Amino acid sequence: MAAVSFRLLSFLCCLSIIIISQASAQTNCDNDKGNYTINSTYHSNLNTLLSNFSSHTDIYYGFYNFSYGQDPDKVYAIGLCRGDQNPDQCLKCLNESRVSLADECPNQKEAINWRGECMLRYSNRSIFGRMENQPTSRIVYLKNVTGSVDEFNDVLESLMRNLSSTAASGDSRRKYATGSKPAPDFQTTYGYTQCTPDLSSEDCTTCLGEAISDIPNYFNGKAGGNVLKPSCRIRFDPYSYYGPTLKLDPDASPTMTNNTSSSQGKGNTSRIIIAIVVPVASVVLVLILFCIYLRARKSRKQNESEKREDNNEDEISFAESLQFDFDTIRVATNEFADCNKIGQGGFGAVYRGQLSNGQEIAVKRLSRDSGQGDMEFKNEVLLVAKLQHRNLVRLLGFCLEGTERLLVYEFVPNKSLDYFIFDPIKKAQLDWQRRYKIIGGIARGLLYLHEDSRLRIIHRDLKASNILLDEEMHPKISDFGMARLVHMDQTQENTSRIVGTYGYMAPEYAIYGQFSAKSDVFSFGVLVLEIISGHKNSGVRRGENVEDLLCFAWRNWRDGTTTNIVDPTLTDGLRNEIMRCIHIGLLCVQENVAARPTMASVALMLNSYSLTLPVPSEPAFVGDGRTRSLPDMQSSSEHNSRQTIESANQSAQNSVNEASITELYPR
Ligand SMILES: *[C@@H]1O[C@H](CO)[C@@H](O)[C@H](O)[C@H]1NC(C)=O
Ligand SMILES: *[C@@H]1O[C@H](CO)[C@@H](O)[C@H](O)[C@H]1NC(C)=O
Ligand SMILES: *[C@@H]1O[C@H](CO)[C@@H](O)[C@H](O)[C@H]1NC(C)=O
Ligand SMILES: *[C@@H]1O[C@H](CO)[C@@H](O)[C@H](O)[C@H]1NC(C)=O
Ligand SMILES: *[C@@H]1O[C@H](CO)[C@@H](O)[C@H](O)[C@H]1NC(C)=O
Ligand SMILES: *[C@@H]1O[C@H](CO)[C@@H](O)[C@H](O)[C@H]1NC(C)=O
Ligand SMILES: *[C@@H]1O[C@H](CO)[C@@H](O)[C@H](O)[C@H]1NC(C)=O
Ligand SMILES: *[C@@H]1O[C@H](CO)[C@@H](O)[C@H](O)[C@H]1NC(C)=O
Ligand SMILES: *[C@@H]1O[C@H](CO)[C@@H](O)[C@H](O)[C@H]1NC(C)=O
Ligand SMILES: *[C@@H]1O[C@H](CO)[C@@H](O)[C@H](O)[C@H]1NC(C)=O
Repeated sequence: MAAVSFRLLSFLCCLSIIIISQASAQTNCDNDKGNYTINSTYHSNLNTLLSNFSSHTDIYYGFYNFSYGQDPDKVYAIGLCRGDQNPDQCLKCLNESRVSLADECPNQKEAINWRGECMLRYSNRSIFGRMENQPTSRIVYLKNVTGSVDEFNDVLESLMRNLSSTAASGDSRRKYATGSKPAPDFQTTYGYTQCTPDLSSEDCTTCLGEAISDIPNYFNGKAGGNVLKPSCRIRFDPYSYYGPTLKLDPDASPTMTNNTSSSQGKGNTSRIIIAIVVPVASVVLVLILFCIYLRARKSRKQNESEKREDNNEDEISFAESLQFDFDTIRVATNEFADCNKIGQGGFGAVYRGQLSNGQEIAVKRLSRDSGQGDMEFKNEVLLVAKLQHRNLVRLLGFCLEGTERLLVYEFVPNKSLDYFIFDPIKKAQLDWQRRYKIIGGIARGLLYLHEDSRLRIIHRDLKASNILLDEEMHPKISDFGMARLVHMDQTQENTSRIVGTYGYMAPEYAIYGQFSAKSDVFSFGVLVLEIISGHKNSGVRRGENVEDLLCFAWRNWRDGTTTNIVDPTLTDGLRNEIMRCIHIGLLCVQENVAARPTMASVALMLNSYSLTLPVPSEPAFVGDGRTRSLPDMQSSSEHNSRQTIESANQSAQNSVNEASITELYPR
């Protein structure tokens, strides 16, 4: 029992690790091998060459090797996919590499991009058939192995040596091997080795050997990592990331290795003939029976199996349990009928639906390709689905169908908080007791996201419309983890939704794009003041003047007229409780990031009346006490777009190291 839960635990931790490698593409632009100019012959040859990969439908083994153009502008390129990728998946990955390279290496004649499922490189010199083990790129995981490091290293080394010899023995179509081995302390390590198949077996062994010898130096005690070289790569991971290797037809082996395969083939031929001629009648019979069986089976499960085949073979059963069939969702939402549409956000429309078992669901139909591979998307869903708390809207699963990506959530019957607190009539339904409970619930949900969950999730877009209310008016935070489920830079159209909502954004986030748990604390503070005052953060109307809610609250607090802040419909409230909440709200919106409390202290302050609260300093944006020091979003879209680009750049740059460090704390 203990062993099982241990294993489960380490599995869960490992899940978070995978993200680092899946999310990270590595690019090397070679600045020493010459530059080309935009729109030069080299540039157009390169584009022609790379865009023509997909017309080579004869290639089924994941190795693309072409050249195009005339010297001195001839371009040579090699594309290589993992052995579990079918041609469609392979070309898709190579296309992604191509887009990254065009972006990151806009004028280098020679460049390489490595991704989880493929590698693409090009140069102005012939690169076919040469072993090149520089430049080397390494991805080192944060997670440490548990148990004895020496024992782990022994296991890992023997696994990688074994896989290396298997890969090296491959033919000129594929030199690839994957495998796993149990490691100490209930761990399993999953290895992957691959050479470009144009290498000789010796060169492949040499290249992989060098990569493997990096392990003790760079990865000692780490649970996973990648060594990426132009001609070969290795990866080890505490979690399975590859699917079954696609079979290559041995008879279709190209002439280059005619040696090995044909000599074997000939030796076997005579025996095979004898074996076939004698029992030919029974074989025919068996074949007929087999065909009948297949046909019967096919028609029975036609729908199901067709869909299965399209999907990645490397699904883990865990993901399967979360995966919904597209048809199920289509039926549940009545073909995404308009009357079932309950919202439209920056990430796409939300539909209400009912499964055949009666369960009500909310389906978010992501408005565009989320910019990540299917496997990566699934991994993100797995992680987010693990976050379960009574104050979080539960993610039940997902659905992938072609370019469609759907997220399936539990349905929360009442509308969002903004529907009540900003409505002059409906706000009466929320008396102080309810509002106080809502504040406490949001605080607990956020605390869970920040500190108690396995992953450290920063919401980034906490606001009244993201707080849903269940039948008993308990709050549930929605839209958390969206930064993981949708790549940020793919959704620029709805900038304000992605980057955060102006008015709730902490100044360091709004201005510099720096986010942290403390920027969520800021948004929480704004939300608390909204709940107490019944005013939107955008302004409190006083006759002719509109004053920003934070300024308004701060001015009244400073002048000792705090009761002005309180929503007049709150007649029942315990004065002390309300004052304390205002005080906490003001502590959360302080400009000084360090002075803002953590969610853990907020939860403590809400629970313990005996705790003395510090005196808040002036909130952000107050400036001279009257006006915001930042331009409003509508009046300055320029400011806004610049800020998006900044944060997009930042996330691109940090995709490997910082993103995984700041956003993800495996436990
Ligand atoms: C590649 O380009 C560089 C820089 O332009 C040049 O020095 C080199 O000779 C080229 N290589 C070939 C094989 O043309
Ligand atoms: C090529 O361009 C890059 C910047 O794009 C520059 O850093 C590098 O020095 C250039 N290399 C040569 C040989 O001009
Ligand atoms: C390159 O060509 C495209 C289309 O012909 C043109 O729009 C662009 O301005 C050109 N860029 C440069 C730097 O010449
Ligand atoms: C593109 O690929 C097709 C199919 O292999 C080939 O016939 C054609 O010549 C290629 N075109 C270029 C411009 O390389
Ligand atoms: C790979 O490309 C090189 C250079 O273009 C060519 O000489 C070689 O024949 C190609 N090999 C295969 C297997 O296509
Ligand atoms: C390659 O990716 C680009 C940008 O994502 C996309 O516009 C294009 O259609 C893709 N091409 C293929 C052949 O998939
Ligand atoms: C892994 O171990 C190193 C040194 O033993 C330590 O500095 C590091 O914090 C550990 N990393 C994690 C994620 O526990
Ligand atoms: C690799 O491992 C497999 C299974 O563990 C084993 O059968 C095989 O002999 C090993 N190969 C080498 C070269 O060590
Ligand atoms: C294939 O094998 C035959 C005889 O073994 C040899 O003559 C021929 O050169 C080989 N082809 C290649 C491409 O190596
Ligand atoms: C391939 O063929 C060559 C001569 O055709 C021979 O010397 C060599 O041993 C063969 N290799 C293998 C692996 O059979």
